Amino acid sequence: MIEKLQKIKENASAELSGVSDKATLAAYKVKFLGKQGALTEVLRGMREVSPEDRPKVGALVNEIRDAIESAVAAKEREFERAELEKELASSFIDISEPSKGHEKGALHPLSRVYETLIDACVNIGFKVVDGPEVELDYYNFEALNVPKNHPARDMQDTFFISDNLLLRSQTSSVQARAMKSLTPPFKIISPGRVYRNDSDATHSPVFHQMEGLVVDENVSMADLKSMLTSLMRKTFGENTELRFRPSFFPFTEPSVEVDVTCPTCHGEGCRICKGTGFLELLGAGIVNPKVLEMGGIDSKKYRGFAFGFGVDRVAMVKDGIGDIRSMFRNDIRFLKQMK
Ligand code: PHE
Repeated sequence: MIEKLQKIKENASAELSGVSDKATLAAYKVKFLGKQGALTEVLRGMREVSPEDRPKVGALVNEIRDAIESAVAAKEREFERAELEKELASSFIDISEPSKGHEKGALHPLSRVYETLIDACVNIGFKVVDGPEVELDYYNFEALNVPKNHPARDMQDTFFISDNLLLRSQTSSVQARAMKSLTPPFKIISPGRVYRNDSDATHSPVFHQMEGLVVDENVSMADLKSMLTSLMRKTFGENTELRFRPSFFPFTEPSVEVDVTCPTCHGEGCRICKGTGFLELLGAGIVNPKVLEMGGIDSKKYRGFAFGFGVDRVAMVKDGIGDIRSMFRNDIRFLKQMK
């Protein structure tokens, strides 16, 4: 028996040198360690070994099995390593190859205008507030003094979702919400996306507004005028003049529409401003006391002024963009031109 085992040991170590890849290794494993393998066969014959010899034979079997197993494991590691090295060699990366380079990006014209306007407002104490784009009819209209079925609703071609739910048509809805939660005095702006069923070169069904609201004890039309003048001069340049025309909005009384000097011709009159030298840009006014009351603000003690404008329009006027839709197409050529 012991001789048989010694023979297996010799054979195993002799044949190991013939193991040159994964396939021959698998065969080798089966031959010596498998169920029909040489060692298993010897173990089957253990019954014939005398009881006093059994521990010795058993120890030898274990020793040989351990030796073969660790030889097999070493070969496995060797083959895996060789495979990995082969793979690494074939996927060589040349880190000295020159790169294709990166083009420097730029902010979208809309983002740039937003940044200028928001910065200018935040610098004079405005807080930025946000609100939902899917809005209740109540905040978009009713709380702003536009009851259901009121003809003033015609001014804003609204997308309704249900009787009481809509896509906000103006960021004034944020003001209606803010009045309920803030205690005066306060100064807020609400920039954001708005929606109207309108689409041509100067109207997009989705566009951007920014609205400002100031509520305090003694605010007047004069404050509104000076604030808008400074805001527009920061945006379009110090030589910009503003023109205030009487107008109507349900939520302000009195209401004005505000024109600024055309930045293309600086007031001379050109194609963009249709020869008038001015561009219509903002709606504004003194907040209707009824709107303050609906917002839970004591209209005997407090007054407010509000202004609102289309941010896309400001960007178009500033950068001479002819078609509002080009701002949403993300055509890289347009964006490059605007850089
Ligand atoms: N929300 C108005 C609009 O979208 C603009 C506006 C804002 C007018 C604030 C007056 C005061 O047309």
